[in-house]
Amino acid sequence: MATQDNSSPTDPESINATVDAVLDVVARAAPDIRRGLPGRRVAIEGENPSGESQKAADVYADELLCERIGSLSNVGVYASEEREAGVDVGSGLSVCVDPLDGSSNLEPNAAMGTIVAIYDDDLPASGRDIVAAAYVLYGATTTMAVARSDKATVTEYVIHEDGSYQVVNGELTLPDDPSVYGFGGRVPHWVDEFASFAEAVESDPSMKLRYGGAMIGDVNQVLTYGGIFAYPTLQNAPEGKLRVQFEGYPVGYIVEKAGGASSDGGQSLLDVEKDDLHARTPVYVGNEDLIDDLESSLADRE
Ligand code: F6P
Repeated sequence: MATQDNSSPTDPESINATVDAVLDVVARAAPDIRRGLPGRRVAIEGENPSGESQKAADVYADELLCERIGSLSNVGVYASEEREAGVDVGSGLSVCVDPLDGSSNLEPNAAMGTIVAIYDDDLPASGRDIVAAAYVLYGATTTMAVARSDKATVTEYVIHEDGSYQVVNGELTLPDDPSVYGFGGRVPHWVDEFASFAEAVESDPSMKLRYGGAMIGDVNQVLTYGGIFAYPTLQNAPEGKLRVQFEGYPVGYIVEKAGGASSDGGQSLLDVEKDDLHARTPVYVGNEDLIDDLESSLADRE
Protein backbone atom coordinates (compact mmCIF):
# COMPACT_ATOMS: atom_id res chain seq x y z
CA MET A 1 0.00 0.00 0.00
CA ALA A 2 3.07 2.24 0.21
CA THR A 3 3.19 5.07 -2.31
CA GLN A 4 6.45 6.85 -1.50
CA ASP A 5 9.62 4.76 -1.51
CA ASN A 6 12.51 6.13 0.53
CA SER A 7 13.51 2.90 2.19
CA SER A 8 17.00 1.87 3.14
CA PRO A 9 18.22 -1.23 4.93
CA THR A 10 17.50 -0.64 8.61
CA ASP A 11 18.98 -2.84 11.33
CA PRO A 12 17.70 -2.47 14.91
CA GLU A 13 20.79 -0.57 16.03
CA SER A 14 20.55 2.07 13.36
CA ILE A 15 16.77 2.32 13.88
CA ASN A 16 17.34 3.03 17.58
CA ALA A 17 20.04 5.59 16.82
CA THR A 18 17.73 7.38 14.38
CA VAL A 19 14.84 7.28 16.87
CA ASP A 20 17.17 8.81 19.50
CA ALA A 21 18.16 11.56 17.07
CA VAL A 22 14.57 12.40 16.04
CA LEU A 23 13.34 12.50 19.64
CA ASP A 24 16.28 14.67 20.64
CA VAL A 25 15.44 17.14 17.86
CA VAL A 26 11.77 17.20 18.89
CA ALA A 27 12.58 17.80 22.57
CA ARG A 28 15.09 20.54 21.76
CA ALA A 29 12.67 22.18 19.30
CA ALA A 30 9.87 22.32 21.90
CA PRO A 31 11.07 25.49 23.70
CA ASP A 32 11.61 27.17 20.30
CA ILE A 33 8.08 26.25 19.22
CA ARG A 34 6.71 27.48 22.54
CA ARG A 35 8.64 30.76 22.31
CA GLY A 36 7.33 31.25 18.76
CA LEU A 37 3.65 31.08 19.78
CA PRO A 38 2.86 34.58 21.16
CA GLY A 39 3.28 36.41 17.85
CA ARG A 40 1.64 33.69 15.74
CA ARG A 41 -1.87 33.36 17.15
CA VAL A 42 -3.59 34.59 13.99
CA ALA A 43 -5.11 32.47 11.25
CA ILE A 44 -3.42 32.76 7.88
CA GLU A 45 -4.99 32.40 4.46
CA GLY A 46 -5.28 28.82 3.33
CA GLU A 47 -6.12 25.45 4.78
CA ASN A 48 -4.23 22.30 5.66
CA PRO A 49 -4.83 19.17 3.53
CA SER A 50 -7.71 18.19 5.85
CA GLY A 51 -9.55 21.43 5.13
CA GLU A 52 -8.85 23.08 8.49
CA SER A 53 -7.76 26.69 8.77
CA GLN A 54 -4.08 27.16 9.59
CA LYS A 55 -2.54 29.46 12.15
CA ALA A 56 0.83 31.12 11.58
CA ALA A 57 2.05 28.96 14.49
CA ASP A 58 1.10 25.71 12.66
CA VAL A 59 3.23 26.71 9.69
CA TYR A 60 6.10 27.96 11.88
CA ALA A 61 6.26 24.70 13.89
CA ASP A 62 6.00 22.64 10.71
CA GLU A 63 8.82 24.46 8.94
CA LEU A 64 11.06 24.33 11.99
CA LEU A 65 10.54 20.58 12.47
CA CYS A 66 10.86 19.83 8.75
CA GLU A 67 14.21 21.61 8.62
CA ARG A 68 15.61 19.96 11.77
CA ILE A 69 14.23 16.44 11.30
CA GLY A 70 14.89 16.57 7.57
CA SER A 71 18.58 17.25 8.12
CA LEU A 72 19.10 14.03 10.14
CA SER A 73 20.72 11.07 8.46
CA ASN A 74 18.64 7.90 8.08
CA VAL A 75 15.39 9.84 7.75
CA GLY A 76 13.81 9.27 4.35
CA VAL A 77 10.56 11.23 4.48
CA TYR A 78 9.18 14.05 6.59
CA ALA A 79 5.39 14.22 6.44
CA SER A 80 3.13 16.59 8.28
CA GLU A 81 -0.55 17.31 8.77
CA GLU A 82 0.19 20.71 7.29
CA ARG A 83 1.50 19.39 3.94
CA GLU A 84 -0.27 17.56 1.15
CA ALA A 85 2.62 15.15 0.47
CA GLY A 86 5.66 13.87 2.34
CA VAL A 87 8.97 15.66 1.74
CA ASP A 88 11.77 13.49 0.41
CA VAL A 89 14.69 14.26 2.72
CA GLY A 90 16.98 11.26 2.19
CA SER A 91 16.89 7.59 2.78
CA GLY A 92 15.67 5.76 5.90
CA LEU A 93 12.78 5.97 8.36
CA SER A 94 9.56 7.91 7.71
CA VAL A 95 8.63 10.58 10.23
CA CYS A 96 5.04 11.85 10.51
CA VAL A 97 4.38 14.96 12.55
CA ASP A 98 1.39 16.93 13.76
CA PRO A 99 3.43 20.07 14.47
CA LEU A 100 0.83 21.83 16.63
CA ASP A 101 -2.02 19.60 17.73
CA GLY A 102 -5.02 21.59 18.95
CA SER A 103 -3.83 24.94 17.61
CA SER A 104 -7.35 26.37 17.98
CA ASN A 105 -6.39 26.46 21.68
CA LEU A 106 -3.82 29.15 20.90
CA GLU A 107 -6.22 32.07 21.22
CA PRO A 108 -7.79 30.96 24.54
CA ASN A 109 -4.27 30.04 25.77
CA ALA A 110 -5.04 26.40 26.54
CA ALA A 111 -2.93 23.25 26.14
CA MET A 112 -1.52 22.14 22.80
CA GLY A 113 0.88 19.44 21.64
CA THR A 114 3.30 18.19 19.03
CA ILE A 115 2.88 14.56 17.91
CA VAL A 116 5.56 12.45 16.23
CA ALA A 117 5.31 8.96 14.73
CA ILE A 118 8.35 7.18 13.32
CA TYR A 119 7.74 4.32 10.88
CA ASP A 120 10.10 1.72 9.45
CA ASP A 121 8.25 1.74 6.14
CA ASP A 122 7.21 4.00 3.33
CA LEU A 123 4.16 6.22 3.68
CA PRO A 124 1.35 5.72 4.21
CA ALA A 125 2.69 3.12 6.66
CA SER A 126 0.78 0.57 8.69
CA GLY A 127 0.39 0.93 12.46
CA ARG A 128 2.44 -2.20 13.02
CA ASP A 129 5.44 -0.55 11.32
CA ILE A 130 5.72 2.12 13.98
CA VAL A 131 9.08 2.04 15.79
CA ALA A 132 8.50 5.00 18.12
CA ALA A 133 5.88 7.60 18.93
CA ALA A 134 6.02 10.64 21.14
CA TYR A 135 4.09 13.73 22.05
CA VAL A 136 5.15 17.02 23.55
CA LEU A 137 2.54 18.70 25.74
CA TYR A 138 2.70 22.49 26.00
CA GLY A 139 0.81 22.87 29.26
CA ALA A 140 1.74 24.72 32.42
CA THR A 141 5.06 22.95 31.92
CA THR A 142 6.45 21.29 28.82
CA THR A 143 6.57 17.50 28.96
CA MET A 144 7.18 14.71 26.47
CA ALA A 145 5.86 11.14 26.55
CA VAL A 146 7.80 8.57 24.53
CA ALA A 147 6.98 4.98 23.52
CA ARG A 148 9.50 3.05 21.45
CA SER A 149 9.89 -0.49 20.19
CA ASP A 150 13.10 -1.16 22.15
CA LYS A 151 11.45 -0.31 25.51
CA ALA A 152 8.56 -2.02 27.28
CA THR A 153 7.21 1.10 28.99
CA VAL A 154 6.37 4.74 28.26
CA THR A 155 8.81 7.36 29.52
CA GLU A 156 7.77 10.86 30.52
CA TYR A 157 10.27 13.73 30.40
CA VAL A 158 10.09 17.34 31.49
CA ILE A 159 11.65 19.71 28.95
CA HIS A 160 13.44 22.78 30.23
CA GLU A 161 13.63 26.25 28.71
CA ASP A 162 17.11 25.58 27.25
CA GLY A 163 15.94 22.40 25.48
CA SER A 164 17.54 20.00 27.96
CA TYR A 165 15.22 17.28 29.25
CA GLN A 166 15.11 14.76 32.05
CA VAL A 167 13.06 11.70 32.93
CA VAL A 168 10.30 12.36 35.46
CA ASN A 169 8.56 9.01 35.09
CA GLY A 170 10.28 5.98 33.60
CA GLU A 171 7.08 3.97 33.59
CA LEU A 172 4.06 6.07 32.73
CA THR A 173 1.17 3.63 33.24
CA LEU A 174 -2.59 4.09 33.18
CA PRO A 175 -3.97 3.82 36.73
CA ASP A 176 -6.24 0.80 37.23
CA ASP A 177 -9.17 2.87 38.51
CA PRO A 178 -10.28 5.26 35.77
CA SER A 179 -11.66 8.66 36.72
CA VAL A 180 -11.77 10.97 33.64
CA TYR A 181 -13.43 11.00 30.23
CA GLY A 182 -13.39 13.37 27.27
CA PHE A 183 -15.52 12.88 24.15
CA GLY A 184 -15.27 15.06 21.02
CA GLY A 185 -17.71 15.84 18.24
CA ARG A 186 -21.09 17.56 18.57
CA VAL A 187 -23.41 15.50 20.77
CA PRO A 188 -26.32 15.65 18.25
CA HIS A 189 -23.98 14.02 15.71
CA TRP A 190 -23.05 11.06 17.93
CA VAL A 191 -24.49 7.73 16.78
CA ASP A 192 -27.05 6.23 19.21
CA GLU A 193 -24.75 3.41 20.33
CA PHE A 194 -21.96 5.84 21.26
CA ALA A 195 -24.47 8.11 23.02
CA SER A 196 -25.63 5.13 25.15
CA PHE A 197 -22.03 4.27 26.02
CA ALA A 198 -21.35 7.93 26.93
CA GLU A 199 -24.45 7.96 29.14
CA ALA A 200 -23.20 4.91 31.04
CA VAL A 201 -19.79 6.52 31.56
CA GLU A 202 -21.36 9.82 32.68
CA SER A 203 -23.61 8.09 35.17
CA ASP A 204 -20.67 6.33 36.87
CA PRO A 205 -20.07 8.38 40.04
CA SER A 206 -16.31 7.77 39.86
CA MET A 207 -16.01 9.43 36.44
CA LYS A 208 -15.74 13.14 35.66
CA LEU A 209 -15.62 15.10 32.41
CA ARG A 210 -12.28 16.49 31.21
CA TYR A 211 -12.34 17.81 27.64
CA GLY A 212 -9.99 20.56 26.52
CA GLY A 213 -10.13 20.45 22.71
CA ALA A 214 -6.53 19.35 22.09
CA MET A 215 -6.17 15.61 21.87
CA ILE A 216 -2.74 15.57 23.48
CA GLY A 217 -3.96 17.49 26.53
CA ASP A 218 -6.97 15.18 26.85
CA VAL A 219 -5.00 11.97 26.29
CA ASN A 220 -2.41 13.07 28.84
CA GLN A 221 -5.21 13.43 31.41
CA VAL A 222 -6.27 9.86 30.65
CA LEU A 223 -2.69 8.61 30.98
CA THR A 224 -2.36 10.43 34.29
CA TYR A 225 -5.71 9.67 35.94
CA GLY A 226 -7.04 6.70 33.96
CA GLY A 227 -10.20 6.88 31.87
CA ILE A 228 -11.13 7.25 28.22
CA PHE A 229 -10.70 9.76 25.40
CA ALA A 230 -12.76 9.50 22.23
CA TYR A 231 -13.14 11.38 19.01
CA PRO A 232 -15.90 9.06 17.81
CA THR A 233 -17.55 8.10 14.58
CA LEU A 234 -20.21 10.72 13.82
CA GLN A 235 -23.44 10.54 11.84
CA ASN A 236 -22.11 13.20 9.47
CA ALA A 237 -18.47 12.00 9.57
CA PRO A 238 -18.25 8.20 9.99
CA GLU A 239 -14.44 8.35 10.12
CA GLY A 240 -14.48 11.03 12.81
CA LYS A 241 -11.92 13.82 12.69
CA LEU A 242 -8.48 12.56 13.66
CA ARG A 243 -5.86 11.40 11.20
CA VAL A 244 -4.53 7.82 11.17
CA GLN A 245 -0.84 8.41 10.40
CA PHE A 246 -0.43 11.59 12.45
CA GLU A 247 -2.74 11.01 15.43
CA GLY A 248 -4.43 7.60 15.55
CA TYR A 249 -1.36 5.34 15.25
CA PRO A 250 1.00 7.32 17.54
CA VAL A 251 -1.57 7.86 20.28
CA GLY A 252 -2.78 4.25 20.05
CA TYR A 253 0.82 3.04 20.28
CA ILE A 254 1.60 5.20 23.32
CA VAL A 255 -1.59 4.29 25.22
CA GLU A 256 -1.18 0.57 24.51
CA LYS A 257 2.43 0.68 25.73
CA ALA A 258 1.23 2.45 28.86
CA GLY A 259 -0.98 -0.57 29.65
CA GLY A 260 -4.18 0.75 28.09
CA ALA A 261 -6.09 -0.10 24.92
CA SER A 262 -6.90 1.65 21.67
CA SER A 263 -9.69 1.12 19.18
CA ASP A 264 -11.30 2.45 16.02
CA GLY A 265 -14.56 0.98 17.33
CA GLY A 266 -13.85 -2.62 16.35
CA GLN A 267 -10.08 -3.25 16.45
CA SER A 268 -6.83 -1.79 17.79
CA LEU A 269 -5.96 1.51 16.13
CA LEU A 270 -2.67 -0.12 15.12
CA ASP A 271 -4.62 -2.53 12.87
CA VAL A 272 -6.45 0.21 10.98
CA GLU A 273 -5.39 0.08 7.30
CA LYS A 274 -5.83 3.19 5.15
CA ASP A 275 -4.08 4.01 1.91
CA ASP A 276 -4.25 7.80 2.07
CA LEU A 277 -1.66 9.85 3.98
CA HIS A 278 -4.35 12.11 5.43
CA ALA A 279 -7.05 9.44 6.04
CA ARG A 280 -9.10 9.73 9.23
CA THR A 281 -10.28 7.25 11.81
CA PRO A 282 -12.50 7.27 14.88
CA VAL A 283 -10.20 7.22 17.94
CA TYR A 284 -10.97 5.62 21.31
CA VAL A 285 -8.14 5.21 23.85
CA GLY A 286 -8.06 4.44 27.55
CA ASN A 287 -8.38 1.72 30.16
CA GLU A 288 -8.96 -1.70 28.66
CA ASP A 289 -12.32 -2.33 30.38
CA LEU A 290 -13.73 0.93 29.06
CA ILE A 291 -12.52 0.22 25.53
CA ASP A 292 -14.06 -3.29 25.74
CA ASP A 293 -17.39 -1.77 26.84
CA LEU A 294 -17.18 0.77 24.04
CA GLU A 295 -16.55 -1.91 21.42
CA SER A 296 -19.47 -3.98 22.77
CA SER A 297 -21.77 -0.95 22.55
CA LEU A 298 -20.71 -0.13 18.99
CA ALA A 299 -21.09 -3.80 17.98
CA ASP A 300 -24.84 -3.35 18.56
CA ARG A 301 -24.87 -1.23 15.37
CA GLU A 302 -24.30 -4.26 13.17
O1 F6P B 1 -6.31 17.59 15.45
C1 F6P B 1 -7.54 18.02 15.67
C2 F6P B 1 -7.93 18.47 17.06
O2 F6P B 1 -7.48 19.75 17.36
C3 F6P B 1 -7.56 17.52 18.22
O3 F6P B 1 -6.39 17.86 18.89
C4 F6P B 1 -8.76 17.63 19.13
O4 F6P B 1 -9.00 16.46 19.88
C5 F6P B 1 -9.88 17.92 18.19
O5 F6P B 1 -9.34 18.47 17.00
C6 F6P B 1 -10.87 18.88 18.76
O6 F6P B 1 -11.94 18.98 17.93
P1 F6P B 1 -13.30 19.74 18.32
O7 F6P B 1 -12.97 21.19 18.17
O8 F6P B 1 -14.26 19.25 17.32
O9 F6P B 1 -13.63 19.39 19.74
